[in-house]
Amino acid sequence: MSNKIQTLSGYFHEYQKSVLDPETFWARIGESFYWRKQWDETVSWDFEKPDVKWFVNGKLNITENIFERYLHTKGDTPAIIWEPNDPNEANRIVTYRELFEMTNQFCNALKAQGIEKGDRVIIYMPMVPEAAVAMLACARLGAIHSVVFAGFSSSALADRINDCEAKMVLTSDGNYRGAKQIPVKAVVDEAVESTPSIEKVIVLNRTGEEVTMKEGRDIWWHDAIANQSTDFAATEMDSEDLLFILYTSGSTGKPKGVVHTTGGYMVYAEYSFSNVFQYTPGDIYWCTADIGWITGHSYIVYGPLLAGGTTLMFEGVPTFPHAGRFWEIVDKYKVNQFYTAPTAIRALQVHGLEPIQPYSLNSLKVIGSVGEPINEEAWHWYHDHIGKGNCPLVDTWWQTETGGIMISALAGITPNKPAHASLPLPGIQPIIVDAEGNELKGNNVEGNLCIKFPWPSMIRTTYGDHEKCKNVYFSAYKNMYFTGDGAKRDHDGYLRILGRVDDVINVSGHRMGTAEVENAINEHPKVVESAVVGYPHDVKGQGIYAYVICDMTGRTEDSLKAEIKDTVRKIIGPIAKPDMVQIVPGLPKTRSGKIMRRILRKVASKDISNLGDTSTLLNPEVVDDIIKGAGL
Ligand code: WT7
Repeated sequence: MSNKIQTLSGYFHEYQKSVLDPETFWARIGESFYWRKQWDETVSWDFEKPDVKWFVNGKLNITENIFERYLHTKGDTPAIIWEPNDPNEANRIVTYRELFEMTNQFCNALKAQGIEKGDRVIIYMPMVPEAAVAMLACARLGAIHSVVFAGFSSSALADRINDCEAKMVLTSDGNYRGAKQIPVKAVVDEAVESTPSIEKVIVLNRTGEEVTMKEGRDIWWHDAIANQSTDFAATEMDSEDLLFILYTSGSTGKPKGVVHTTGGYMVYAEYSFSNVFQYTPGDIYWCTADIGWITGHSYIVYGPLLAGGTTLMFEGVPTFPHAGRFWEIVDKYKVNQFYTAPTAIRALQVHGLEPIQPYSLNSLKVIGSVGEPINEEAWHWYHDHIGKGNCPLVDTWWQTETGGIMISALAGITPNKPAHASLPLPGIQPIIVDAEGNELKGNNVEGNLCIKFPWPSMIRTTYGDHEKCKNVYFSAYKNMYFTGDGAKRDHDGYLRILGRVDDVINVSGHRMGTAEVENAINEHPKVVESAVVGYPHDVKGQGIYAYVICDMTGRTEDSLKAEIKDTVRKIIGPIAKPDMVQIVPGLPKTRSGKIMRRILRKVASKDISNLGDTSTLLNPEVVDDIIKGAGL
């Protein structure tokens, strides 16, 4: 790719150009794509409203930039290599031509089932090639996909369906996850009982388990595609037509539907992918995320395919059937770029070096990390034992809202520095501000991380609630996008992400709003009030600690704790289940009735050396009870 940076001085040069004249810079990057109609204006923006448009009035279809762009040269090249959960099941290799035909066929199936441009389609599927086909078919037809991680509960699924008034759910009969088989269709059945907008459910046969198919609503995937043509003319989209909605947790209430649009997302997904990973056509690239998260969207599906690359998709988990599974897969397919989360690294670190020993890992050229700050110990383990000390490690900072990687080393170009995301990609203008929004210039500064200029794949709105988008991201500081993260610029000018500064916790690289978990806990009939905080957890990064005031009649502490955990699992899903529940007589509150989370965080972290002034609390006496109750 001509837009691939190759040296450190080349990076600084590009960066400079991207800041001095962003329009010319992005126009040049945009020109390497196939547009049916060229854009009139590269960017128009107003962070007050907010109103951001990229490649204004450009017409395109993102899938034409995967298929029509590469078919004549890469028809027989693997687009997706699929490794099943069970290593004894046959793998699948899907070439660009096959993926094109599957996508077209599924476009025709969607159309036959009533889907039109602009309709919302929920994808609640396992990690199989059909999930990518589902996303691409929506994009080709002009439908807006919203992938929901298939580990979310039926009520979390129903909330998302109702928020975007989706017409259809794409799902499977069941999913394999390690030794477990999860009855996914039953979850969907329960969800769609309370989603009036859903007209059809298409069900992929994955596990062959028995499911109930509702006449007139449910249709098998294989029946839906039977007799459908493998030709489909892509729908012409405007640059700013919605490509997808992805729900993510925030500091207040229910998850928000982050909206990404077509042109800018496309340009940035490919540009960031090629540059950060230094992907060269022919390389085998593997990202271990799930398509239910933004990482799966940008760096399993869109980024690699827009680059004409080969993306490996793994259905299973890192420890099944053994703790060397990742490394076995790396050797099996000679993976060149490997991208995973710190939580996976820490979980594998616990098993020691033995599971790695049988594998050479010598195909690896680049290793990457995403989702949460990577602690130095995990960084070194990953770098030394997986990268064998000679693979650049890219620590990539970004968010669902940013659409693509924002701050990261470029592999092999930017010098590595443990636990530092390092430098912004060209076009990205991060700044650190103090509480009043004053820019903290120079090195050795620490504060809140903001971005002061738009980039192509940035969030456009929160679906159905533009005010929310404005309030959450554009109101904290004037004329800046606020990330919700704290950051430090060190003496070399390298950025280190310090973690969330709002009421969001990061559990195994997954974002959870404390309010969302509290709302779920409060659904339990015996719960009076609750407060949730994060605390340091060896494997998950952060664990969920819940303080709960309960009516104890007829329950033991243990039974109640188990019931509370189960309530959260049912309402949100297993990923939100509290690691710790402490039953407390009261919660520390200020005179205005606000919960003093600072104290709760300290107790949860077992650090009560400096609790600060508690005398201004409405009920200072509960602090001692809480400390005692925590066994400290
Ligand atoms: C939050 C975004 C972006 C894909 C996965 C998560 C944290 C993400 C890093 C990193 C330190 C990181 C931030 C961010 N985060 N990557 N390399 N170093 N923190 O997406 O669910 O939207 O979460 O994850 O706190 O705000 P997400």
